[in-house]
Amino acid sequence: MTDESLKRKITLPGLRRLFKLYRFIKPYRWEYGLGLLFLLGSSVASLAFPKLLGELVDYGNQGKLGEEINRIALILIGVLIAQSTFSYFRILLFVRVAEKTLSDLRQHTFNHLIRLPMKFFQHRRVGELNSRISADITLLQDALTSTLAEFIRQIIIIVGGVTLMLMTSMKLTLFMLLILPVIMVLVGVFGRYIRRLSKKAQAQVADSNTIVEETLQGIQSVKAFTNEFFEMARYRVKTQEIAATGIKNGRLRGAFSSFVILGIFGTMVAVIWKGSTLLGSGEIATGELFSFVIYTVFIGGTIGGMADVFARVQKFIGATEDLLEIFNEVPEPVEDITGSESSQILKGGIRFDHLNFSYPSRPDAQVLDDINIEIRPDTLVALVGPSGAGKSTLVAMLLRLYEPTSGRILFDETDNQSIPISSLRNQMAIVPQDIFLFGGTIRENIAYGKTDASDAMIEDAARKANAWEFISKFPEGLDTLVGERGTQLSGGQRQRVAIARAVLKNPKILILDEATSSLDSESERLVQDALEKLMKGRTSIVIAHRLSTIRQADMILVLDNGRIVEKGTHEELLQSENGLYKSLSELQFGV
Ligand SMILES: Nc1ncnc2c1ncn2[C@@H]1O[C@H](COP(=O)(O)OP(=O)(O)O)[C@@H](O)[C@H]1O
Ligand SMILES: [Mg+2]
Repeated sequence: MTDESLKRKITLPGLRRLFKLYRFIKPYRWEYGLGLLFLLGSSVASLAFPKLLGELVDYGNQGKLGEEINRIALILIGVLIAQSTFSYFRILLFVRVAEKTLSDLRQHTFNHLIRLPMKFFQHRRVGELNSRISADITLLQDALTSTLAEFIRQIIIIVGGVTLMLMTSMKLTLFMLLILPVIMVLVGVFGRYIRRLSKKAQAQVADSNTIVEETLQGIQSVKAFTNEFFEMARYRVKTQEIAATGIKNGRLRGAFSSFVILGIFGTMVAVIWKGSTLLGSGEIATGELFSFVIYTVFIGGTIGGMADVFARVQKFIGATEDLLEIFNEVPEPVEDITGSESSQILKGGIRFDHLNFSYPSRPDAQVLDDINIEIRPDTLVALVGPSGAGKSTLVAMLLRLYEPTSGRILFDETDNQSIPISSLRNQMAIVPQDIFLFGGTIRENIAYGKTDASDAMIEDAARKANAWEFISKFPEGLDTLVGERGTQLSGGQRQRVAIARAVLKNPKILILDEATSSLDSESERLVQDALEKLMKGRTSIVIAHRLSTIRQADMILVLDNGRIVEKGTHEELLQSENGLYKSLSELQFGV
């Protein structure tokens, strides 16, 4: 996500929506309020500073040495101590509140996110959602700890400073106000422009690195396609762009520093020049001029920083709006049912009743078309058909990952809408087409089917899945790390880990989505063997590529283009002339 896309206009409804986030700060509001008080204290103390310094100068000037001058110095030290104490507590309190709020908010966002239905995840990228939890929430941290504090401090300094200056000399203040804000706003805007340009340079450097990385990673393809010169040209263009941006940036930085010197010191010269004439005519005292100059520096710096705070507020609003958008999505009614026996409710009967479905992301493409099937408990049903026919979608509907466009799915003649979604899913296990193993140990990956399983249960499941043989050969056994930073398992091994996971879950309904498709014949025999043991005493739905694995099915359903086109046993389907099943098996076995 780019910096720019995060920014939003500051609008009233936008600000009102921000208050929805208030409930996360609410538990800590007193602590935060106290922090604000300290902030107020330290800002006011910093305002008193130039005033007191001026008085110190005046006393010295008037020859009032001794007790009086020491008194002021003591007050100054007191103010300093107060200010440093206030700052300490201000930062401490703000950081405490921000960290606690952030932790709550992170948890809330994550908890909300993973309970959202599949249709939410269809049209969003993982990287984007990830940045919600990391980058956006970090922006909130920035807002709570520094941006808001900065903003309040700026207002206090400007309003308080100008008031104190007006009390000293109306004329000089008005003179100063005529020049300073213009200069400082220009400095702020100019500075931001330069920063944006350096960001652009950074992005260009990143782009050029991507070229290097991709070229080297795919070096074999680069050479095979004799694209060395193409890549050289690509890289040359990028590096030249970087240089051009850098030079432009340098020119601006040079101009900026001349401008700052001229503007800031020019203002100082002007104020002191005007002040000196007033000093000459006796309208102000030396000390007053002295504090005046310090106030001018203070206020100048503050105005200069405002552009930055303003940009941060904009970014913050963009981040919260994206976050609030996610909060507005309605989660699935999932519930924690770990270890509860009341969820063992399915007997294994399934009925699809005039089921129609199209994916929410592609509403015009009908993926399942008037599906009517009755599956009896404890039978083995095979689902075959060309790729893209809708087989995986049909089993996703069983798990209620998506809601039908129309029609119903019944379990033991109960509408799935009236079965708690977590109990329903808890009674099913799927060995999916693309097996996902978490980065962790084999033990953790198997136990994902039942997070409270004992070691003995895990080993037993691994044995039933014919996975124990290879797991026990690893030096670390069940503790072998898999995934990105661990041992890479072969396709057949991964599949058996996934089957062990399903065995451990001991589901009433078992779903295998092309569980044997990517195996060599030895692994296939092992997996097939594991599956046959596993299917006993439950309803099994097997999506199979290789028809040899489903000959013994009680019922074979042939799906084509979202419709059930044939239904029967292996023998029955072979009888029908011109049938899809018959031609598929002829292709495979030449019978
Ligand atoms: N998440 C999805 N979003 C949109 N369309 C999808 C999605 N998954 C699958 N499809 C489409 O639905 C149809 C059926 O896909 P699928 O059920 O995976 O078929 P099969 O498992 O039989 O090969 C295909 O046309 C596919 O492009
Ligand atoms: Mg599929």
